Order: sequence, then C-alpha cells, then structure tokens
Amino acid sequence: MTTADLKSEFLVEGLGNVSLRKPIPEQAELAFGIISNETNMRFFMVSNWTLDEYRKFIPKVMKDRKRYPFWIYAGETFVGICQIWKISNKPKKYGRNAYIFCALSPEYQKMGTARAALKLMIEFAFNELNPPIDTIRVHIIEENRPSLNLAFGLGFKKTIRHKSAGLVDGQKVPAIYAILRRT
Ligand SMILES: CC(C)(COP(=O)(O)OP(=O)(O)OC[C@H]1O[C@@H](n2cnc3c(N)ncnc32)[C@H](O)[C@@H]1OP(=O)(O)O)[C@@H](O)C(=O)NCCC(=O)NCCS
Repeated sequence: MTTADLKSEFLVEGLGNVSLRKPIPEQAELAFGIISNETNMRFFMVSNWTLDEYRKFIPKVMKDRKRYPFWIYAGETFVGICQIWKISNKPKKYGRNAYIFCALSPEYQKMGTARAALKLMIEFAFNELNPPIDTIRVHIIEENRPSLNLAFGLGFKKTIRHKSAGLVDGQKVPAIYAILRRT
C-alpha cells in the first residue's frame, strides 16, 4: 500500500480537492453506507454483512497483495470508495492486468469526483505499482450508463459485449468488457 495519500488538483465546490487515502477500519460505517445502499449497488452483489463484519474485513483487504483499496475524500469529507483489485501475478496476452472499482455516496455523485479519483488511481496503477500494470479491465453491466460513460471518458475501449455476463435482480443481463492500456 502506498504510504502517501494521492491528491488531485480537482476541486469539488464547497468541499476541497479530491484525494485518495487509506481506509480507516475504525470508521467503517462511512464506507458501509455505500456498500449497503441497494440503489447505489444495484449492479453489484450487495453483501449481507453487518457493520461489525465489514469493520473486520477492511484490514484483511488492506493486507491483500492483489488489491489496493482507497477511500475518496473531497477536502476532509468522505465521499466514496475505489480500489485496484485482482492484480494478476503472471503477464497475459497484453501484459499484467488489474481491475478497478469505484462507488460514490449518492449525495456526492455527478460532481466530477469519480473521474478525478479514478484518474489518480489509474496513474498510480500504471506508474507506481511494482511490478507495473500494463492493462486495466472493467466489466460493466450495459444498463449502468453512468459507469460506462465514466469508463469511456477515461479512455477505456470496448472489447466485447456479452449478452448474459451481468446479474441484476437475479436475471442475467448484457455486460460490456473494456480495457485501458498503459501508453
Ligand atoms: C459510476 C459512478 C462512480 C460515477 O461517479 P460520479 O462521481 O457521479 O461521476 P463523475 O461526476 O466523475 O462523472 C464522470 C463522467 O461519468 C459519467 N456519468 C456520471 N454520472 C452519470 C449519470 N448519472 N448519467 C450518465 N453519465 C454519468 C459522465 O460521462 C461523466 O462525465 P460528464 O460529467 O462530463 O458527462 C457513480 O454513479 C456511482 O457510484 N454509481 C454506483 C456504483 C457503480 O455503479 N459503480 C461503478 C463501478 S466501476
């Protein structure tokens, strides 16, 4: 895990600059509000964890060598979570790959925060991880337009559309696979 916070020039009006910081297990309720919000997490498996279970889970994630979890702040306000995960050990066709994830509290969405946070995290993944990452992949349910727009806006390119790779309300739905290569 990086020792320094990652700080963006991007300013959320009234709150301050976007930064990525280490998760704080003692403040698990901040992130738990996001992962237990069914509207926010409609396109993901919402866990049935209790807050206490989630609090114990955070330190485990922080020790996992295949993941870098971050909490997103605007100034000193907690606004969301993001992570680099599933970092591959072995290079594949396009090199060493990782996945990314991001979710913002509903009240802080549509302010440009996720874009700023993901830019920081992508820069970290491509330039500071050792050994470096060559590609970042995402797998997004087609219905999740905000997320797809965000990914394409960051330079991800669609690879395939799978007609039943997503799951929403127990139903298989189309999902888009996209990739970002280190330049
Ligand atoms: C997807 C999500 C992280 C976007 O966060 P955000 O901070 O609102 O996004 P930003 O304000 O940085 O917007 C960046 C771009 O994303 C797209 N976007 C964001 N919200 C959108 C919306 N409601 N509808 C369509 N496009 C949207 C746009 O392209 C936007 O660029 P623009 O403002 O120039 O049009 C947020 O909606 C969220 O937390 N959703 C629930 C969890 C989730 O689906 N996560 C995705 C997993 S990777």
